[in-house]
Amino acid sequence: MRIKDKKRFIVACGGLAIILILSISVLTLGFWNRNETQSELTNQKNSQASTAQTTNTKTEADPATSTQTVETQQPVQTETKNTAVVNGTGTDSITTLVNKNHSITASYIPSDLVTVDLPSTRDTQLRSVAADGLTKLFKAAEESGLELYCCSGYRSYETQSELYAWNVDTYGVDGAELVSARPGMSEHQLGLAMDVTSASVGFDLLESFGATPEGQFIKDNAHKYGFIIRYPQGKTDITGYAYEPWHLRYLGVDVATAIYNSGKTMEEYYGTN
Ligand code: DAL
Ligand code: ZN
Repeated sequence: MRIKDKKRFIVACGGLAIILILSISVLTLGFWNRNETQSELTNQKNSQASTAQTTNTKTEADPATSTQTVETQQPVQTETKNTAVVNGTGTDSITTLVNKNHSITASYIPSDLVTVDLPSTRDTQLRSVAADGLTKLFKAAEESGLELYCCSGYRSYETQSELYAWNVDTYGVDGAELVSARPGMSEHQLGLAMDVTSASVGFDLLESFGATPEGQFIKDNAHKYGFIIRYPQGKTDITGYAYEPWHLRYLGVDVATAIYNSGKTMEEYYGTN
């Protein structure tokens, strides 16, 4: 080969080498770039998934933060509202409704029962807040020259079962249904109900108690201390029970006063049965 040709050959090889190196560089860079993009996408997906999860959680916990949530959770909100109205925050709520359509579990026992320190025909218990209200009611009665007696407060599921069975044996099912709650359906199991009586009716639980000065006093004043006469006269079709002028139910002063002023039963007041 001539020297001139040799030079041309070397220059051509050099050029090819440079082209080759450049091509390899471009390909390598492209590969890395693709990998990085893919990994970023994966991260984004993960991050979106995690954001979605966070949104869902937030949505459930805090419906007000999302319009979509308000729509999807509206029925749940309504249900919760109804439950809250009827049952407060659960069985322990002082406004829990218990009747033939709303029962409580056999295992429910209030955690704050106290033995009532008031004139009584026997030892009996109430939840502490109701006992405080009853003490004030008895004191007010005493200041009016009247003496009330506690007769029956908290009753366990088992005690209520025995009472109901005794009433069925004595009056038959239809008769028993008017005067005694089935187990799990008595306000006495809530520890928020007290049957009261007086000497004027021989310390018994009689309809005639309603017409005595003691019966009249609790009818007119019980709400001021948080109680209502739960089974009023003429409301059997709503409450399911005969007139019980002796059965006081604690609901707190505000609700008891509102129910008293409305002239309604608890069922009517809460718009349920
Ligand atoms: N006498 C009422 C209804 C009760 O048994 O709870
Ligand atoms: Zn009662």
